Amino acid sequence: MNAPDRIEELLTATTDAFQSGSLIRLKLGGYHGTEPELKSVEVKKIAVKGGEKYSFTYKYKTRDTIKNYVEPEALALLREGLKHEFRSAQLATTEFDMLFERNGQKQRLKRTEVQGREAPSTDHNRAKNRPLTETDKPWLKALGIAGKNGAVRHDAQDKFRQINKMVEIFAPLIAAIKPERPLIVDMGAGKGYLDFALYDYLTTIAKRPVRIIGVEMRAQLVSDGNATAKASGFEGLSFQAGTIMDFDASGADAVIALHACDTATDDAIFKGISAGASLIAVAPCCHKQTRRQMEAGQPDARLEPLLRHGIFVERQAEMVTDTLRALLLELNGYKTKVFEFVSDAHTPKNNLIVAEKDGRMGRDRDAVLKQITEIKSMFGIEQHYLEGLLGL
Ligand SMILES: C[S@@+](CC[C@H](N)C(=O)[O-])C[C@H]1O[C@@H](n2cnc3c(N)ncnc32)[C@H](O)[C@@H]1O
Repeated sequence: MNAPDRIEELLTATTDAFQSGSLIRLKLGGYHGTEPELKSVEVKKIAVKGGEKYSFTYKYKTRDTIKNYVEPEALALLREGLKHEFRSAQLATTEFDMLFERNGQKQRLKRTEVQGREAPSTDHNRAKNRPLTETDKPWLKALGIAGKNGAVRHDAQDKFRQINKMVEIFAPLIAAIKPERPLIVDMGAGKGYLDFALYDYLTTIAKRPVRIIGVEMRAQLVSDGNATAKASGFEGLSFQAGTIMDFDASGADAVIALHACDTATDDAIFKGISAGASLIAVAPCCHKQTRRQMEAGQPDARLEPLLRHGIFVERQAEMVTDTLRALLLELNGYKTKVFEFVSDAHTPKNNLIVAEKDGRMGRDRDAVLKQITEIKSMFGIEQHYLEGLLGL
């Protein structure tokens, strides 16, 4: 059988498995294409609002990106990828596995029967797959997510999905914090959606004792949050009024900040670094400090077309700020990843920077400092706010 037929055979097996519901995953590896830092691609079936799709997770060295495609698009991408960019692929179904290998023009496909495997759920929305299943809870009612009857309100379905997603993301990250320092601090907690959801999940479902403090400068939100925590019997959850910078975070092993405005994100990172927290996770929003400096400074003239349009200045400011934050975290012994954490259908502010302390510098300190200096000089930035906090 000639080479392209092997690819078609694999693709036919994949689409059959997709349609019959027996697809577990197709994983493409041995990447040798032009996309920098791409390692592999995992394809699964997903049920979304527009119907069933092929969900591609592009796994890069330090981040993952997900894109969903309808069948013809997915097949075209897979066909091209297998011909030119990926040397291997593993198809896993509930009934058999297939291993595809390509070496120059030579291609091999091996099939192995398997038994006793269950197909994964494809449904984004199926309640039983959510971490928070019980909805008749005082905190869900107080936050307006559940109605008096204890069911999720019709107009709060998206919010409920979002907080479940947050728990899915944060619970495994929290699992890595030190058991002897079980304090999580949420900076700029707002109404405390994340804190209630995470506390409920960790203590009642995962049975992991934790303490969570939400720091918030709006006093009314703090007293509402504390009243709801009390009514819920959540003894280890509390809210404290004040600013991030005035809060003593020294006992915290995880510092989180979701959409804390502008430099409040830097305050949170600084507090996490100072506390030596094992985990710092921030979802930044508005990057005004960097933007103002870029506009007042003298960026490299070659960047002029990239900085000509206001909307692109905004995006560049976002990328530059968060890159500098990631480098400054690296400088302080944190391994940093950036990924999308809620679909941008809900909010455009969807990057999550996750920094885990391993105490080691991945690279030499001077090399990281040099990169920071070069990026600032390229974009006309005099000093990033977090550098000032860190005394650099
Ligand atoms: C956009 S809201 C996000 C709330 C919450 N983290 C969430 O994702 O639902 C930002 C919150 O951070 C609070 N905040 C901003 N800067 C702060 C600071 N420096 N200290 C304490 N709270 C701050 C604001 O009052 C606001 O409630």
